[in-house]
Amino acid sequence: MRILQAASEAVPFAKTGGLADVAGSLSAKLASLGHDVFLVLPLYRETRSWAGNARRTLTLGVPLGSETRSLSVALLEKGNLRIAFVDDPAFFGRPGVYGENGADYADNDRRYSLFCRAVLEAAKALEFAPEIVHAHDWQTGLLPILLKRLYAGDPVLGRAHSVFTVHNMAYQGLFPASSVTLSGLSLKEMSPSSLEFYGKASFLKAGLVFADRLTTVSPTYAREIQDSIETGCGMEGILRQRSRFLTGILNGLDVDYWDPEKDPNLPEPYGAATVFQGGKAAAKRALRRECGLKVDGSLPLIGIVSRLDRQKGLDVAIAALERRLGGFELAVLGSGDPALAASIRQYASRHPSRIYFREGFDESFAHGLYAASDIFLMPSRFEPCGLGQMIAMRYGAVVVGSRAGGLADTVFEADSGSGNGFLAEPGDVESLGRALDRALEAFHGPMWPKLVERGMRTDFSWDRSARAYIELYENLMGAALGPKA
Ligand code: ADP
Ligand code: GLC
Repeated sequence: MRILQAASEAVPFAKTGGLADVAGSLSAKLASLGHDVFLVLPLYRETRSWAGNARRTLTLGVPLGSETRSLSVALLEKGNLRIAFVDDPAFFGRPGVYGENGADYADNDRRYSLFCRAVLEAAKALEFAPEIVHAHDWQTGLLPILLKRLYAGDPVLGRAHSVFTVHNMAYQGLFPASSVTLSGLSLKEMSPSSLEFYGKASFLKAGLVFADRLTTVSPTYAREIQDSIETGCGMEGILRQRSRFLTGILNGLDVDYWDPEKDPNLPEPYGAATVFQGGKAAAKRALRRECGLKVDGSLPLIGIVSRLDRQKGLDVAIAALERRLGGFELAVLGSGDPALAASIRQYASRHPSRIYFREGFDESFAHGLYAASDIFLMPSRFEPCGLGQMIAMRYGAVVVGSRAGGLADTVFEADSGSGNGFLAEPGDVESLGRALDRALEAFHGPMWPKLVERGMRTDFSWDRSARAYIELYENLMGAALGPKA
């Protein structure tokens, strides 16, 4: 199959969160299964070094409102995977990906309208005629409507089917009505049956209404976003209307990259069979030393790796932890909301030998922290899928998380005998406190090694999920499925 993947971030080129993990590793997995995959990304400042290896570069004129911008597209090849970077330095060559210092760039409507048109113009220029155009989140939400309104008769793109994956309903790409015309659409689209949402243009809604198929990143979240206004963020009605086209496919993990047996960031390798033979303990020692945690090495180390956003419930975590100070050490890595960062910084500064906070986005420190953690805390108010908990389990940490979205699909209460972690009700300090108590108690008991091993042995690989996407693409194309490999 010829599959075009368009995303605003993808590993290893640019990353602010799990979207990058998914867009990058799903594309690579589909290519490794023999599909012809074309991944298109913006060329951000942090991505620039990759473009140096470009096999070729083409120049494109891409419409943006009444102007035509001349930009270049750098092309890279990795086997069946072709990657195109849309290079417009004035728009993408900035210090941040979506914004700086907690504030979005004011012209994100222009940036991602241009990007969406550039994706389609690049495919045309290269004569890459996709059977599937797969867009992710609001930044590429315009692609399905552009295909229908502006490219339906196009010889290269006219037969493409569109799939839109929602990684997070809370980011709706809301802009003034006039921004509709930036991508070449008519102001007529400002209607409730199209992309208008309470007087604004929503790039997310454009994807939800016009894509041939919708997916989201876990089965539970697929239900939640249709059921409640909190999780559906006001678009639950639209999702219910399109329910029969909506599927929840749990994300996979790049298990080669996230592998404590060959992770260069760790002091010693370890795997499920060797986790208690020193490798994980060495990671914990190294991290405690680096972070100045020195209360007691036999206490469980609780780790948090997170975007700093209300979604992640870190305020709830601090309130629950505050009452249990004697029982753990804590290391937090996070970036995002400056006010949340300030409150965590203040909390850590009150207990410097017990609590450590590193503010920023630090890939290598994240690996060390997953490995060092005995307990991984993820008390999200909502969680479309969540990769943090899967990575943590793979590195031998036991998860304390919320019963929400993809967390509820991957973490199961340990009391059940077959569980792998501890669950709390989202946003509930008391409930999280009780889950923490159960975990802290279990840490000192005989069940712990089983929990650790069970988590490490769980198959979080892309095999299952990539097949689910392929099946969805095939169904959409109306192709006979044929015998399955
Ligand atoms: P979300 O996409 O909502 O942020 P996920 O759990 O799906 O949450 O994915 C988060 C991804 O981003 C994981 O790969 C995690 O390790 C990484 N991550 C989050 N915050 C940081 C940070 N401050 N530094 C490094 N990596 C981070
Ligand atoms: C979003 C969600 C997260 C999900 C990720 C990748 O950022 O918040 O739950 O894992 O996308 O799909």
